[in-house]
Amino acid sequence: MKLESLRELLITELQDLYSAEKMIIKALPKMMEKTSSPDLRRALDQHLQETEGQVRRLDQIFDQLPKVDRDDEKCKGMEGVIKEGEEMIKKDAEPEVRDAAIISAAQRVEHYEMAGYGTVRTYARLLGHSDWAQLLQQTLDEEKEADRILNGLSERINLEAKAA
Ligand SMILES: [Fe+2]
Repeated sequence: MKLESLRELLITELQDLYSAEKMIIKALPKMMEKTSSPDLRRALDQHLQETEGQVRRLDQIFDQLPKVDRDDEKCKGMEGVIKEGEEMIKKDAEPEVRDAAIISAAQRVEHYEMAGYGTVRTYARLLGHSDWAQLLQQTLDEEKEADRILNGLSERINLEAKAA
């Protein structure tokens, strides 16, 4: 799609995020399987449930754009972020070190999403779609909260990894 307006850029970025969220839904269970920390598993699981809700929020926006194919973009950035994380987590490692690596990978995912959602939230607001902006802000808040929880977990898990 040629980007002739901020609206078209917004739609393309929403499609990109839609693709990213779908990838995250596939990636989180693999991370959960690999962790030895019940707390980390719970945090990832909670974020998996939230991510499903985030896809539904994007669906609510796309439902108002009947001419747009929501599956038209593939987020190569998120694909790379996830692939790098998976390669790191696959390595033979002490369980505590692997848990630190899982947090590191998950936080990369969150930060990538935070950048994306902050942007589309702002575009939506500028273009007068305050209802969309509100939905996107809710997701942005969840991504920030997920990142904060991971930060909290990393304080203990990094020390355990250091001692391993
Ligand atoms: Fe998300």
